[in-house]
Amino acid sequence: MDSTPMPGRTPFLTLPQATLVRERFGTPCYVYDRAGLETAARQALALSAPFGFTLRYAMKANPSRGILTLFRDLGLHVDASSDHEVERALRAGFAPEAIQLTSQMPSSRLAEHVKRGILFNACSLHQLELFARVAPGGRLAVRMNPGLGSGSTKRTNTGGPASSFGIWHEYLGDVQKTAAKHGLTIRTLHSHIGSGTDPEVWKRVSGMTLDLAAALPDVTAVNLGGGFKVGRMPEEPTVDIADVGVHMRDGLVEFERRHGRALRLELEPGTYLVARAGAVVATCIDVVDTGRDGYCFAKLDTGMTEVTRPSLYGAQHPIDVLASGREAAEVVFVGPCCESGDILTPAPGDPEALAPRWVPRPRIGDLVVVGGAGAYCAAMSTINYNSYPQAPEVMLEPNGDLRLLRRRQSLEQVWMNEV
Ligand SMILES: Cc1ncc(COP(=O)(O)O)c(C=O)c1O
Repeated sequence: MDSTPMPGRTPFLTLPQATLVRERFGTPCYVYDRAGLETAARQALALSAPFGFTLRYAMKANPSRGILTLFRDLGLHVDASSDHEVERALRAGFAPEAIQLTSQMPSSRLAEHVKRGILFNACSLHQLELFARVAPGGRLAVRMNPGLGSGSTKRTNTGGPASSFGIWHEYLGDVQKTAAKHGLTIRTLHSHIGSGTDPEVWKRVSGMTLDLAAALPDVTAVNLGGGFKVGRMPEEPTVDIADVGVHMRDGLVEFERRHGRALRLELEPGTYLVARAGAVVATCIDVVDTGRDGYCFAKLDTGMTEVTRPSLYGAQHPIDVLASGREAAEVVFVGPCCESGDILTPAPGDPEALAPRWVPRPRIGDLVVVGGAGAYCAAMSTINYNSYPQAPEVMLEPNGDLRLLRRRQSLEQVWMNEV
């Protein structure tokens, strides 16, 4: 079999492998690259912090058990964003102490979590009170909104006055009062200011978070969230994680010199660990155009149902038409949904504008691969819209084997809870 990498930008999948994915599992199908996942995890684990380091995987990015167990075996901990994710992490074999719950939704199982040893990160004053009720005298983390945020778009910005995430920094006094009243010990100070964060803003905010930690004498760790930018497209930059480490090393050493406290560092990336190690193998199902002054559209059997980010944020994903010897054409890729927003190639940051791509002119039946689909794709898909069943997930092993992680949903499963 020919093992030449594909002509495009999804380097982990060869043309014969993509063909095999279609034959064995049908399209659309998510494929994850074990080697790429391991490389990203090892790069992040290599970050050296002066007083200890914990790497949490923000499992909201991709909660597939196949990925969770891989990261568990590499020694990562987990950031869970709901009671349900806590349950999935436990089911994947994470020790309770390796799981921290950071949720917008107040937990309905807090007492149970505390008893099990799961760590809790209070994301509002209300959540802090709820924790105090079930675990007076307990230890926890507190998520603060340090007053500044940054994301790849406004919709992925989780810091600053326009964001509901975390406790507004000016309310630190209320946090201290509540903690004192109930004998709570705030061990970890947490902030996460967005996804696709500008690295300079991230660095500034890390300093602001350390300033908040200075006012909380029991804090022994700072968790600075995730948000590390990953270039899915060639023109998009990727954060140098080692540079983040150097910056934090300086900040933590300086903090220790000034305040006499050696803080452990925690980071909880999602995107950085999984984004580029995922792709969706799809089929071109139709080609239409709107005349000489219009557009050429390639309709795929994947779109917002598997890769929602372009229609939601105007996010960019590489798209490869696996065909050779064709003339190039300017093409808008769209999904199969009866929704004009089901577009895979919007303009960057503008989901309402079309941005055609130069690709080999697609034909019906062509294999097409959408890259950069490891993070917030399977996890955030609009499954079952137009009653399309949820797509399967497959792990590409380093020896080339394709291992099924999750079957395609059956049609019966789409309606099975209807009464
Ligand atoms: C609390 C928290 N931590 C970590 C992350 C991971 O962010 P990213 O995938 O940008 O690294 C998120 C994402 O929204 C988050 O909400």
